[in-house]
Amino acid sequence: MIGIIGGTGLSAFLDANLLRTEEFESRFGAPSSEVSICQLHGRDFAFLPRHGHPHRVPPHKINYRANLDVLVRSGVTELIAVNAVGGICGGLGPAQIAIPDQILDYTYGREHTIYDDGSALDHVDFSFPYSGKVRENLASAASRANISVLTSAVYAATQGPRLETAAEISKIRRDGADMVGMTGMPEAALAREMGVEYACIALSVNWAAGLTDELITMHDIEEALAAGMKDVKKILACYIQG
Ligand code: HPA
Repeated sequence: MIGIIGGTGLSAFLDANLLRTEEFESRFGAPSSEVSICQLHGRDFAFLPRHGHPHRVPPHKINYRANLDVLVRSGVTELIAVNAVGGICGGLGPAQIAIPDQILDYTYGREHTIYDDGSALDHVDFSFPYSGKVRENLASAASRANISVLTSAVYAATQGPRLETAAEISKIRRDGADMVGMTGMPEAALAREMGVEYACIALSVNWAAGLTDELITMHDIEEALAAGMKDVKKILACYIQG
């Protein structure tokens, strides 16, 4: 089954029929929310809001392990993560969308592996952190929805919840990042450890710090979210339709 993890601006999937909600115990603790099993175009999919609904769990406090664990328990094998980001490269202005293919991880102090109780250990390959299959399906869904997206880009994960300094963004840009967000890791690595096909659809909601003369305001972010999330939802609907 397809799963969707909703990010900021996508805490409910209102266009789909809600079939049921499922609550699972996880050995990793409490997830952000129960899993909603929804139906769109006759196909079932699972949905979980990363930051909770209606609660607002900050990026560094999200129980990424429990969230992925309950999605796997509800039958998810193919997972799309929706993430709001700040744009760094030229093509990623507010309301533009990317399907990243690489990750830089600057987060710290987050539970980032399932292999930490001594009972098992695997060093999973993470050379290509996202599923090629899910990325291709996302790109093809975007093309069917007639929405142009960047299909190769580097996602930098920062700790948050504060935004970055201009100097941090210069450094992250020199490191090779095209966008910056707070929730892409450890989610992607945990999905790999749990054997889930996982990819990200990233919506730029602002230019990253220092790239324009303006300060970053929640008002501007919310405007870009409202404009861009419509396109993200269209792409997701095309993806689910298959
Ligand atoms: N930085 C980090 N995370 C973000 C940003 C940003 O500029 N915008 C949305 N999420």
